[in-house]
Amino acid sequence: MNPVIHLNDVSRVFPADPPVHALSKIRLRVEQGDYVAIVGPSGSGKSTLLNTLGLLDRPTAGSYLLDGIETTTLKDGARTRLRGHRIGFVYQSFHLLDHRTVAENVMLAEMYGRSGGAGGERARKEPPGATGGGYGRRGRRRRAEEMLEKVGMSHRVDFVPGRLSGGERQRVAIARALMGGPSLLLCDEPTGNLDSRNTGAVLDLFDGLRDQGLTLLVITHEDAVSARANRRVRISDGILTEG
Ligand SMILES: Nc1ncnc2c1ncn2[C@@H]1O[C@H](COP(=O)(O)OP(=O)(O)O)[C@@H](O)[C@H]1O
Ligand SMILES: [Mg+2]
Repeated sequence: MNPVIHLNDVSRVFPADPPVHALSKIRLRVEQGDYVAIVGPSGSGKSTLLNTLGLLDRPTAGSYLLDGIETTTLKDGARTRLRGHRIGFVYQSFHLLDHRTVAENVMLAEMYGRSGGAGGERARKEPPGATGGGYGRRGRRRRAEEMLEKVGMSHRVDFVPGRLSGGERQRVAIARALMGGPSLLLCDEPTGNLDSRNTGAVLDLFDGLRDQGLTLLVITHEDAVSARANRRVRISDGILTEG
């Protein structure tokens, strides 16, 4: 089976004077079902790595195979479709829309997935209704409710985010990240705004997702978070080291 992530000598240089070597010849293999923590000081290249893995940024050099597909030579539209089908994102600050309900926030994930023209091209293994055209608002609503049930938020579907605790907001953001049926969840400091109890709830949720075969990659500063992963990777000045 192909690894979910296979980076071979991936570099990212930002043009500046002098140029910033944010990622230097990174090699990384992540297998399906791996749970990897990425730790490193501020400015070490963590977000650049996550953006690269999430197909939001392109490497300056090197190869990035996602589920066996070479992504560096794909056109923007193909990269957007691939992202919509395979990758979910979770951020420290949740990125929920204040004036939309929980259910609407989760449903809106699909609109992002479709925005790249995902209409006809549905990934082989995706469950019906995961993304793409042909499923109306009602189908999306049903799927959103399923994802909210997965994260234990069924009782809050019609709330607005302002009425939720931080931990509940992050669970909604995770439900949104799951809408497209991703194989890979990329998380940038997902517990950075949470107290220890809510951090624990989110980490329990991650364990459950990993047990269901999802691959998780989590950037974190917290030992309590990295300790829960199966594997720890350190980045420093754009250079990656295992362990
Ligand atoms: N768009 C950009 N242009 C120039 N330099 C950048 C850009 N984005 C990030 N950098 C630089 O790349 C390095 C790594 O940044 P980043 O990946 O955000 O680090 P981290 O997430 O670990 O704090 C930093 O020196 C940062 O200033
Ligand atoms: Mg960062």
